[in-house]
Amino acid sequence: MIPGIGLPPRCLEALRMRQPCHSSCRAAPFSVVGKIPSFGSEFWISDNWPGYSLDLFTYPQHYYGDLEYVLIPHGIIVDRTERLAKDIMQDIGDNDIVVLCVLKGGYKFCADLVEHIKNLSRNSERFISMKVDFVRLKSYHNVLIVEDIVGTGRTMKVLLNNIEKYKPKMIKVASLLVKRTSRPDGYRPDYYGFEIPDLFVVGYALDYNEHFRDLNHICVINDHGKAKYRV
Ligand code: IMP
Ligand code: MG
Repeated sequence: MIPGIGLPPRCLEALRMRQPCHSSCRAAPFSVVGKIPSFGSEFWISDNWPGYSLDLFTYPQHYYGDLEYVLIPHGIIVDRTERLAKDIMQDIGDNDIVVLCVLKGGYKFCADLVEHIKNLSRNSERFISMKVDFVRLKSYHNVLIVEDIVGTGRTMKVLLNNIEKYKPKMIKVASLLVKRTSRPDGYRPDYYGFEIPDLFVVGYALDYNEHFRDLNHICVINDHGKAKYRV
């Protein structure tokens, strides 16, 4: 059985709270991670991952009632970003790079990633000398594009085409999230933090009509939230 599939709402809530449900319930506590295809290096969040109850964390009062659940808590985002920084250091350490932040959604991930790379550079034999820039067209040498989320991959392909015109020596892409969409363009970033189900997510600088950028955790918005901030 894959935990979470076809469970009634109260059982899903129990699962989110990591608590046992009613006696005949299939929502066994602790078997909450879903079926992971392989125990590899990918942080893969399954389609039936119930997330975490919002009651377990703090978040801005003005979003009370607008969110369904926490998909990825802020602390896990930061920890995972630290590891991506280490991977990037290992691959392209001892280079001068331009970190190219894709605004606006990429700014939190970009800031935290740059901070981790700086810390690692300070405390190890290897270093990366970095200039940080925001997407605009000009020539670049070694580029690390930092993006919040890759969905179909279309946005990133357009951006890559534009930047490739300037013939940089190296282009790498780091995206915090990769979404399993039904229409993927076959694009995969060089580095990514989490592969997530085809859900609309907000928080950690990802927005819904410019709202929720001030939320720390990555959350799934509910119908009430969508209606409230619809334009
Ligand atoms: P793509 O072209 O389908 O890959 O979409 C990528 C862009 O759409 C991202 O840069 C985001 O700005 C936006 N986007 C896609 N999914 C989400 C989401 O779940 N939350 C917030 N923005 C999203
Ligand atoms: Mg974006």
